[in-house]
Amino acid sequence: MKICFATNNPKKIEEVKAALGDSFEIVSLKDIGCLEELPETGDTLEHNAFQKAKYVKEHFSVDCFADDTGLEVDALQGEPGVYSGRYAGEPRSDERNIDLLLKNLENTSLRTARFKTVIALLLGDEEYKFEGVAEGEILRTRTGAGGFGYDPVFLPKGYSRSFAEMNLTEKNEISHRGKAVSELISFLSHI
Ligand code: IMP
Repeated sequence: MKICFATNNPKKIEEVKAALGDSFEIVSLKDIGCLEELPETGDTLEHNAFQKAKYVKEHFSVDCFADDTGLEVDALQGEPGVYSGRYAGEPRSDERNIDLLLKNLENTSLRTARFKTVIALLLGDEEYKFEGVAEGEILRTRTGAGGFGYDPVFLPKGYSRSFAEMNLTEKNEISHRGKAVSELISFLSHI
């Protein structure tokens, strides 16, 4: 079954392909010829995920899913949340986002945070939603060289290594997107 993952992030495609195995052919936006930036103007993860998936379905007539993820930090009243990608402004930069996050948390010992992912799936005429959450805490310095985004400063709850120190298989087992993708796969394998 061929399905488009509406993202331009090759690391995410790689993560989802690893989690899905061979049962689905995942194609990227580039693969379907969608080179434009997808609209993402909502103030919730759910709004943005459906907005992106609907854009792709309407313009390219393919079954597709889109995800939207946010990092909710308790000491920052849930920020950066839906604005995680643009936390330090445009152009988006993981490095500057992490710098700003660490600066804003400099004087607090409250480090708890969570990643949340919403996946919006458009299949035929139907819409479905899947969610995943990973609890953890924000480290004081970057640790590890893998992953992307805030991975070097996110220590998942119950583990002694950051997401950036884990390989893809390990991260997928416990990550927000891994959990949301598992829900998606479990749904897809029962239809
Ligand atoms: P998106 O909605 O998936 O593009 O995620 C928005 C932002 O959240 C990204 O630009 C990253 O900064 C961050 N993010 C999303 N997923 C992850 C992850 O698995 N690890 C670390 N940061 C992430």
